[in-house]
Amino acid sequence: MSSEPKREIIHSKEEVAAQEEIWKYILGFTPIALVKCAIELGIPDILENHETPMTLLELTSKLGCNESSLYRIMRFLIHYKIFQEKPVSETSVGYALTPLSRLLTRHGQNSMADLVLFSNSPIMLASWHKLSTWVLDNKELPFEAAHNNDLWGFTAANPGYSKLLNDGMACDARVAVAAVIEGCPEVFEGLKTMVDVGGGDGTTLRLIVKAFPWIKGINFDLPHVVAVASAATCVEHVGGNMFDYVPKANAVYLMNVLHDWRDKECIDILKKCREAIPEDTGKVIIVEAIIGRKEDHEFKEVGLMLDMMMMAQTCNGKERTLEEWSYVIHEAGFTRYTIKHIRAYHSLIEVYP
Ligand SMILES: C[S@@+](CC[C@H](N)C(=O)[O-])C[C@H]1O[C@@H](n2cnc3c(N)ncnc32)[C@H](O)[C@@H]1O
Repeated sequence: MSSEPKREIIHSKEEVAAQEEIWKYILGFTPIALVKCAIELGIPDILENHETPMTLLELTSKLGCNESSLYRIMRFLIHYKIFQEKPVSETSVGYALTPLSRLLTRHGQNSMADLVLFSNSPIMLASWHKLSTWVLDNKELPFEAAHNNDLWGFTAANPGYSKLLNDGMACDARVAVAAVIEGCPEVFEGLKTMVDVGGGDGTTLRLIVKAFPWIKGINFDLPHVVAVASAATCVEHVGGNMFDYVPKANAVYLMNVLHDWRDKECIDILKKCREAIPEDTGKVIIVEAIIGRKEDHEFKEVGLMLDMMMMAQTCNGKERTLEEWSYVIHEAGFTRYTIKHIRAYHSLIEVYP
């Protein structure tokens, strides 16, 4: 009796690893979609406001939702350490927050919920689908191809989207400014006035004048942004266009603004900032990522991802290497700068005339 030779399929370890890895790209949006779903359902807030871990039945009845869908969603998010199970009695367990979901409550001090909702909103997701066309033809920017307007024109025309963006940026500002205040308080010594250019809803300046009460802050942003910013002691809101002028102050603060623009506009903005400060004692404080740093640090990947986000969403913006920062700073007429790394993806660059 003859038998067929046994066909052996031998996969190398690398091939198997690649097959596993590729599923991250096939289904990679799933964790993001589920975190967004949990925020929209308000699950992190409900768990935070409940004194003990919540059983499936309690959470289902609080949400008034389908029990089996909720069970599957929570099982998935527990796997990703967004939530955890804890005993509530000898026979039952309940859902509780983890360090990750503590960052997803809507109003917590370090909440990132609004930034998750903004970054993964249908408006932002649409631009990613236009990236390859733009890379090939370099004509219409991805955001413009998706929305017939640039990012800032679109926010001016859509107040709901403008709020989504400003709330999202405020999340980032709370974390970054806390790291600036903790890591380099000396930067603010002796400043009587400081203008935050592109300061959004004023979150940054509110935190800075609270920590350094001798500073009077000017929050400078587009008119439609400051028109809805809430009032704060020692912070004046001024509407205008940073390409026309920047209000005068001892120092200019620029956080997450220059990365929205290509070098030419960046240099123009920096020149306007230079005109706004005293020639002898003034400075510009840039708080942004520096990518391609030699030393290893935990925010390396964030910088690279943000660089792609700038490509897809902004007016030709980019995250910059030290050499690229040095170029725009010197082209704008500044003579020297110093750098401080902080406990965030940003670094702080002090720039002097
Ligand atoms: C990425 S957000 C950064 C907000 C804030 N600095 C932060 O880090 O949270 C960029 C800001 O620049 C503002 N902006 C855009 N174009 C501007 C212009 N021509 N003049 C003044 N502000 C502008 C936007 O409205 C937005 O608030």
